[in-house]
Amino acid sequence: MNPLKKVCVIGLGYIGLPTAAIAAQHGIQVHGVDVNPKVVETINKGEIHIIELGLEAVVKEGVEKGYFKASLTPTEADVYLIVVPTPFKGNHEPDISFVEAATRSILPSLKEGDTYIIESTSPVGTTEKMAELIFRARPELKNKIYIAYCPERVLPGNVLHELVYNDRSIGGIDEASTLKAIEFYKLFVKGELHKTNARTAEMCKLTENSSRDVQIAFANELSLICDKADINIWELIHLANKHPRVNILQPGAGVGGHCIAVDPYFIVSEYPRESRIIGIAREVNNYKAFWCAEKTRNAMLEFELKHGYKPVTALMGLAFKPDIDDLRESPAKYIANKVMQSEQNSFLVVEPNIKEHSVFKLTNYLEAYEKADIIVFLVAHKEFKTLEYLDDKVILDFAGIFRR
Ligand SMILES: NC(=O)c1ccc[n+]([C@@H]2O[C@H](COP(=O)([O-])OP(=O)(O)OC[C@H]3O[C@@H](n4cnc5c(N)ncnc54)[C@H](O)[C@@H]3O)[C@@H](O)[C@H]2O)c1
Repeated sequence: MNPLKKVCVIGLGYIGLPTAAIAAQHGIQVHGVDVNPKVVETINKGEIHIIELGLEAVVKEGVEKGYFKASLTPTEADVYLIVVPTPFKGNHEPDISFVEAATRSILPSLKEGDTYIIESTSPVGTTEKMAELIFRARPELKNKIYIAYCPERVLPGNVLHELVYNDRSIGGIDEASTLKAIEFYKLFVKGELHKTNARTAEMCKLTENSSRDVQIAFANELSLICDKADINIWELIHLANKHPRVNILQPGAGVGGHCIAVDPYFIVSEYPRESRIIGIAREVNNYKAFWCAEKTRNAMLEFELKHGYKPVTALMGLAFKPDIDDLRESPAKYIANKVMQSEQNSFLVVEPNIKEHSVFKLTNYLEAYEKADIIVFLVAHKEFKTLEYLDDKVILDFAGIFRR
């Protein structure tokens, strides 16, 4: 065991749980906290409640060796990691109430010399706000504890590797806090640990995801232009990328997921006048999904006018990106919901990565491809890439399966 550190990880989800398990693997005594009793119960059995390659074995090992224990309440520790959700509210304003609640929950346990680190993706200024909250409740701790921000940038599916080998930007509310947080991450991170301040570290995470969003928006905007100009968007991007300094991303049915489709709003809501490109990129990517739904509806109407009967339409994919089972903020799901509002038409909904869905009745992709008159590719899942182009079908290829 690492005698120097006892860590309390607040929030045991997609990020908190692997972080806790990796820390325990490195001999750190980890006390994991989650408000969900089922999560706590599952982890204490050495099992996991999320899908992440290789994670269960690391959790099991930590629990069995006594380095990792989960509970509903925090305990005294040397380091506190806040890894709770930071969603947005209806008006796209960031909701930091989970970070606040997690911070309040550790107030009684904090003592001189402790380190408090936020990992949750947060709007600029959150770490300073939490420092104020802590010092209002515990004024005797002012200048006696270390407070820092360290964002997470792992890719789901490869989290165990990236947690250790990715570089990190770490920023404290003062130099001593930055150094103390770096000292902690050095215990299990092999990537480089870059020193900055809390506001820059917060903005760094938001910048990374906004950068992806803006680049995808550029590709999506080109796809709208090419549709009007009768130019094959896939060929165009392939050719433009032959330029040694051009690297355009691929367009799609929009942008989804819990990071890229969410985090840019944390900048736009705080700096609406300044963040024009970032705000418009969000609009373009949202509009692309709306446009795909309109295109699908028009194709259905045209089919009916031409053939005198309503078509069967296959909606191929619901996930927010290829080859995953995650539907959060998915543009494909949005499009499916929107086009299926025309109830008199019949639809076959396909998502090879999930077995069943509470709203959509799912159909096998081969069966749907054979039976439908109109095929709408919404996600570039690997299964779809094995299909052969059929001239007798109407194919709307928003995901670039055939690139025609
Ligand atoms: N999932 C990712 O790929 C990813 C990547 C980078 C950053 N992030 C950020 O990391 C943060 C956590 O994301 P996640 O995907 O792990 O979320 P998650 O929803 O998977 O897990 C969060 C956990 O926190 C628990 N929780 C909520 N409030 C709590 C409280 N007050 N005390 C204790 N537990 C509490 C929930 O029950 C849940 O189990 C978010 O800010 C997210 O934006 C996520």
